[in-house]
Amino acid sequence: MNLSKAERIRTMKGCEKIAALTAYDFPMTRLLDDAGIPLILVGDSLGMVVLGYTDTTQVTMDEMEHHVRAAARAKPRALLVADLPFRSYDTVETALQNSKRLVAAGAEAVKAEGGREITAQIQAIVSAGIPFLGHLGMLPQHVNEEGGYHIKGKTDVERDNLFADAIALEQAGAFAVVLELVKPVVAKEVTGKISIPTIGIGAGPDCDGQILVTTDLLGTSPDYIPRHVKKNFHLGEQMKSAFIEWKHSL
Ligand code: KIV
Repeated sequence: MNLSKAERIRTMKGCEKIAALTAYDFPMTRLLDDAGIPLILVGDSLGMVVLGYTDTTQVTMDEMEHHVRAAARAKPRALLVADLPFRSYDTVETALQNSKRLVAAGAEAVKAEGGREITAQIQAIVSAGIPFLGHLGMLPQHVNEEGGYHIKGKTDVERDNLFADAIALEQAGAFAVVLELVKPVVAKEVTGKISIPTIGIGAGPDCDGQILVTTDLLGTSPDYIPRHVKKNFHLGEQMKSAFIEWKHSL
């Protein structure tokens, strides 16, 4: 059976944990692909860990295209997903047009943040043959309205909204959904309620897969490493030691 890459991710639910990481350029995409990571995201976290913005809301379509092109040059066997940046999918027309731009740059699927309020956009994207990855829970593109990065699913209303949004994403045709900063017990319940995989970040161990910002895992993120990152390889410190050692060797 010759499944599409997105379909292959979908069918991993219940069989194998999905490991997903972010990449923003050619060498990192190649390294992740060589390591057998099946889903690589050119995330708009790019804004914070590469471009030096304070949050992801400043990332533009031009910037996303530039980095997607670089990542796509690695021609990964992994599914290469690209984030639709802030305000790039406000209407069905812009969502479709910008998804097509990311695909033209080399993305094989797109991701956007939100639930029931963006199902028309998702249906249009999926109808155009572009696989769609959902993103629920804490939505970084809404960090300014939310006043920070807070855990979701703590109240009955938030829990019911997460259930309704996850079901809406599945029905709209998403092949999987990222759950960010969701109370673990609620992430587990969402995972049991839908037939597409959940990929957690700060959402406990019971999702169908896990995703991390790669620089958080490596310990090279510029400002801080989020609390949900349990493994940190401290490469930033090792890199600094290498620079110092080289300087002193001159
Ligand atoms: O932009 C990103 O890297 C993401 C992940 C944190 C899921 O959306």
